[in-house]
Amino acid sequence: MNSTIKKAVFPVAGLGTRFLPVTKANPKEMLPIVDKPLIQYAVEEAVAAGIQDLVFVTGRGKRAIEDHFDKTYELEVTLEARGRHRMLTSMRGILPEEVSCIYIRQPEPLGLGDAVLRARSIIGNEPFAVILADDLIDAAPGCIAQMIDVHERHGASVLAVESIPPTDTDKYGVIESGDFANGIARIDAIVEKPSPASAPSNLGVVGRYILTPGIFDQLADLGRDDNGEIQLTDGIARLLAHERVLALEFTGQRYDCGDKLGFLKATVEYAIKHPELKDEFLDYLAKWHTRR
Ligand code: G1P
Repeated sequence: MNSTIKKAVFPVAGLGTRFLPVTKANPKEMLPIVDKPLIQYAVEEAVAAGIQDLVFVTGRGKRAIEDHFDKTYELEVTLEARGRHRMLTSMRGILPEEVSCIYIRQPEPLGLGDAVLRARSIIGNEPFAVILADDLIDAAPGCIAQMIDVHERHGASVLAVESIPPTDTDKYGVIESGDFANGIARIDAIVEKPSPASAPSNLGVVGRYILTPGIFDQLADLGRDDNGEIQLTDGIARLLAHERVLALEFTGQRYDCGDKLGFLKATVEYAIKHPELKDEFLDYLAKWHTRR
């Protein structure tokens, strides 16, 4: 796929506190949905959309992510010797040849805006994607591909949004927008995690962004918020004064895998679709249901 967006930023330095204790020594992005870690689904979505440079903004305790996208000689030699060719092909195919991984450290947990700002020198003066791996989106074409299509047609930043329960506005960036036409609307305002009483709508931003490089100046000028963080949402709010930013109600199913219930739902749904598991797993679920 020949896309105008060549680079994606994956902020992966977050502490994963909602998933403790499993995230004490393991990156939350390495939690598996059936047999692939969350970060691999996110990377596959980016690569399928034509992205070639994967910029991971990482931190201490996250080395497993680098290892996952690296070659594992011992494993490959062993699989070859044992004739496990299908497994070997799937291991080797995790990243296509033309794709590069770039790792930058975010030394302190200073928020999503700080993470994105750290990628500035690598991104340069071109539009780019930001992908949060704990939002798993099952869609065809992928959510990022849908967003790139909108970006290419309108030449603006694009945020993926969906309707959220009105009681959950304090978990999301929430937008105020004009009317939607073909799933697209112009954003008038955006606010990070408003209380249900003060939220401008029930449209929440999910972890997918196509941003113009204008975002970097806005983030660089932002101070820290009350939690000592630099919020990407606040940078986007400032960008609105200079540029048009669009919201896309994407087609597909999103799972909040940073949350235990969302993670379990995704696990069940992906198991039901897994070619090697689906029959036995559905059978198990049916039996479990009758036992209740
Ligand atoms: C982040 C963003 C928020 C966005 C959300 C999507 O929040 O700050 O604006 O709606 O991702 O998942 P977090 O989930 O990291 O608290």
